[in-house]
Amino acid sequence: MISDLPANLDAASQILKSAARVAVMSGAGISAESGVPTFRGADGLWEGRRPEEVATPEAFARDPEDVWAFYKMRRDLMAPVQPNPAHKTLAQWSERFEPLHLITQNIDGLHQAAGSCDVLELHGSLWDTRCLGCGIQESRRDALEDAIPSCPHCKGVLRPAVVWFGEMLPPGALEQAMEWASSCEVFLCIGTSSLVQPAASLAMIALEGSASVLEINLEETPLTPHATLHLQGPAGEILPALDARMRA
Ligand code: OAD
Repeated sequence: MISDLPANLDAASQILKSAARVAVMSGAGISAESGVPTFRGADGLWEGRRPEEVATPEAFARDPEDVWAFYKMRRDLMAPVQPNPAHKTLAQWSERFEPLHLITQNIDGLHQAAGSCDVLELHGSLWDTRCLGCGIQESRRDALEDAIPSCPHCKGVLRPAVVWFGEMLPPGALEQAMEWASSCEVFLCIGTSSLVQPAASLAMIALEGSASVLEINLEETPLTPHATLHLQGPAGEILPALDARMRA
C-alpha cells in the first residue's frame, strides 16, 4: 500500500479508469459532511439513547410509541439535510460505470436524493414503514405522522423499516450484495468503520474475487491493511478529486 494521498489518488483514478464493473459500500461517514453524525463518533447518532432502548424489536414491543417518537425525531432531523459532493459524485458515476452497484448501510436516503437509483439499503430506510400484520413495506416520506399510523391495507401496526439489533437483513439483500462484491473489478469502501458484519465482510469477498479494494476514510480501519489503496481524507473531497483525475 502506498501511503501518500496524491500518489494514492493518481493510482486509484488509474484503477477506476480501466474498470467497468464497480461496487460501492458506503457507511455513516459519507453523510458526515452533510451534517449527519456517525454512529461511533463523538455525539453519535443515537442522540444519548442506548441503542437497545430504541433499536431492537424488544424495545418496540415494550414501548412502540417511544421507539416511533425516536425515529420521528431522526426523520425530522434528516428532512432538511442535503446530499454532499461524495453522494453527488457517485450519482454521476452511475452513468460512467457499467454497472455501478451501490450498497449502503445508511438509512438516510441521501444517495437517492443525490440521484442514485437502485440503492441496496442493507439496513433499511428511515423513510419506509413495514406492517407487522401484512408485512407490506412502503415508502411514506411525505406522510409520517407523530403517532404510529395504522396500515392502510390491513390496519396492522406499522414499524420503521430499518434493521434493528438482533434482526436479519432484508430478504435477499446480503445475497445480492455478495454477488456484486464477488463480480466487481473495483470495490469502493467509503466512510464505514468496517466493524459491523456482515457488511464488513463484503470487501474481503471482493478481494477474493480479485477486485481492487479502495478504502476512503478519515482514519484507518480493520479493512485498511487488506485494502489495495487507502485514501485518507473526507469522502466529500476525495471522490470529487478522483473524478477530476479520471477526467484529466
Ligand atoms: P461508524 O460510525 O461505525 O463509522 C463511520 C466511519 O466513517 C468511521 O470509520 C469514520 O472514520 C468515517 N468517517 C467519518 N467522517 C468521514 C468523512 N467525512 N469521510 C470519510 N470517512 C469518514 O458507521 P458505519 O460503519 O456506517 O447499523 O456503521 C455501521 C453500522 O453500525 C450502521 O449502519 C449501524 C451501526 O450499528 C445498524 O443500525 C443496523
